[in-house]
Amino acid sequence: MAVTSDSRRIPLIAGNWKLNFDHLQSIAFVQKLAWVLQDARLDFRAVEVAVFPPFTDLRSVQSLIAADHFPLVFGAQDVSEHDSGAFTGEISGAFLKALDCTYVIVGHSERRAYHHESNESVGAKAAAAIRHSLVPVICVGETAEDLEKRGAAAVPVEQLAAALSGLPTGADIVVAYEPVWAIGSGQAATPEQAESVAAQLREVVGEALGSDAADRTRILYGGSVNSGNIARFLREPNVDGALVGGASLVVDEFAKIARFQNHVGV
Ligand code: PGA
Repeated sequence: MAVTSDSRRIPLIAGNWKLNFDHLQSIAFVQKLAWVLQDARLDFRAVEVAVFPPFTDLRSVQSLIAADHFPLVFGAQDVSEHDSGAFTGEISGAFLKALDCTYVIVGHSERRAYHHESNESVGAKAAAAIRHSLVPVICVGETAEDLEKRGAAAVPVEQLAAALSGLPTGADIVVAYEPVWAIGSGQAATPEQAESVAAQLREVVGEALGSDAADRTRILYGGSVNSGNIARFLREPNVDGALVGGASLVVDEFAKIARFQNHVGV
């Protein structure tokens, strides 16, 4: 399949807050983020900026964004594979949709590692997201050991193929390629590695969901992204944005990442 940088792929800069910020802190953060980006005249048609707060912040973030018409979108960090029933502690995709979430992260490496989420359950969560008209941000990535034994792409390709196997043709998804060894380590992958794996992941999307979906699907890079390295990743034709952890918790730094188009070449 030809590698294209499809003009429909508006770059997505996504901040994964993980277990940080309560609902009051989330309000202060989102307000400041919107002001900084609007002051800087970010062209929100050219880049989509999303935050992923903890569940308990979502209602506050929703209300603020709606009331002040901020051009930001948001999502949750996880979703249940079930829609309702006796599943204590789980959150349904229906509830997230009712709070205007656009996205939901599924299969983040921290959930795979600490909550033993299998490829199968990640696939079931992606399917649940789609049932509720949420766009799943499907995370895949190799550990340092995988990298050494099997190279960069083998495990992410397997993880993505498994996650997509139950999804309908043409499903609207985002893929996040996050090498586990790069997350929170301060040591990002090279843009060349991100591009090479992203290109192979796009092939997987094409095989599972069809060529139109492959052209349209945004593939993000994640793992120690900051304002100093973002522009180099976004120059790659198959990298369509970033999933940002630590650097998404500092307003000015996250805003600089969202404004990567202003510092290409830095
Ligand atoms: P990091 O985290 O940017 O702090 O490396 C990325 C992630 O876990 O999504």
